[in-house]
Amino acid sequence: MIYKNLAVNAAGHLTFAGYDTVTLAEEYGTPLMLMDETVIRNRCREYRNAMASCLPEGSMPLYASKALSLKRIYEIMREEQMGVDVVSIGELYTAVQAGFPAENAYFHGNSKTDADIRFAMEQGIGHFVCDNVDELNAINAEAARQGIRQKVLLRLTPGIDPHTHEKINTGRIDCKFGAAIETGQAEELVVYALSLPNVELRGYHCHIGSQIFDHAPFCDAAVMMLEFLADIKARHGFSAPVLNLGGGMAVPYTNRDGSISYAVNIRNIGKLIDETCTRLGLEKPAILLEPGRSIVADAGMTVYHVTGTKEIPGFKNYAAVNGGMADNPRYTLYQAEYTVLPASRMEDKADFLCTVAGSCCESGDLLQEDVLLPKPVRGDLLAVLTTGAYNYSMASNYNRIPRPPVVMLTPETHYLAVRRETLQDLLHCDL
Ligand code: LLP
Repeated sequence: MIYKNLAVNAAGHLTFAGYDTVTLAEEYGTPLMLMDETVIRNRCREYRNAMASCLPEGSMPLYASKALSLKRIYEIMREEQMGVDVVSIGELYTAVQAGFPAENAYFHGNSKTDADIRFAMEQGIGHFVCDNVDELNAINAEAARQGIRQKVLLRLTPGIDPHTHEKINTGRIDCKFGAAIETGQAEELVVYALSLPNVELRGYHCHIGSQIFDHAPFCDAAVMMLEFLADIKARHGFSAPVLNLGGGMAVPYTNRDGSISYAVNIRNIGKLIDETCTRLGLEKPAILLEPGRSIVADAGMTVYHVTGTKEIPGFKNYAAVNGGMADNPRYTLYQAEYTVLPASRMEDKADFLCTVAGSCCESGDLLQEDVLLPKPVRGDLLAVLTTGAYNYSMASNYNRIPRPPVVMLTPETHYLAVRRETLQDLLHCDL
């Protein structure tokens, strides 16, 4: 099995975190999102421990909550002493409502409105990760109005190509995010930030992309950013105490993917940071990392009921399920690969090659192609693995389909973190 928390029980059912997925589906209904809380907590600890031992003092992980944003996850992040990255006041509001301290939140995004900035400051946001001059001016003005000095990091683009999927590659020069080092615009932004009375510049941020297995692109980015830091110190006398290297470490989705050790990657990045700071005669900045996917993706699984199969002679076979792009748009958007398992018939011979199709009224609504299953019959359960990141958070009500519930699994119990949407919920905002 691809993950350690998966097994098959005597009934031939898939178990997840020790629980029979068929029993859970009976209790909570389908589609059903399951999250193994132990995996989430262990991953937070892996990041925290590795960063505490291999990176400069003050270094810490911030959970990039765009991967999965719901009240319970922010409670877990507070308990695990993680910071969080939020990208909207909706995420910030959810965090604050869950009791997460706003001073440990970093507010990202390339397009914040005055209302966003005001709301975040009123909540006592710790840092803004500021994208451009217009935003700096707006932050400075609001901070002056509230009589504070607001801490900011500046979002920079080091121009690293991590050889990942084009659509999720955010670190290149031609990009809507941040200011490029290469063009001199990053330096201009720093100089401008330093001139603003109600802005306290704390350092720099970059994010080179997502689903990156290798540590080398992170090392390249760290060196570029440290050289920039040294350059600014030499030319303008400002030595940034914080360097945020963003998120992006990968998660294996199928057996074809490589494996990854976050602790080893962090150790390698730490070694290079030490060497580079020594070479540049630089005091080591505290390092922040922003893992999203690698905190929650492989903690998640979605369970669906099969509604039927279709064989089109000379073409292909379909197995349709009672969910799809409304709860997981990632195959439709990115042709993202997933492992699909026949949760209720794990011991049966898998000899039916098929496309797993969703229920939306759109031919592109597929969950996966070329999946080998025991020929499904209506009522079978299918499990799609690794759905903890960018599934629930990207889910929609397209076709007026209610969102599934999110059920957390712990060694002792299982419980609802988010209940299933009802038909009445769908009318919540309709007047
Ligand atoms: N920090 C920043 C500034 C980011 O933009 C992102 C992701 C992260 C951290 C977290 O990256 P992670 O560790 O999760 O790779 N919807 C896409 C992923 C978009 C990622 C956008 N930024 C997907 O489903 O693959």
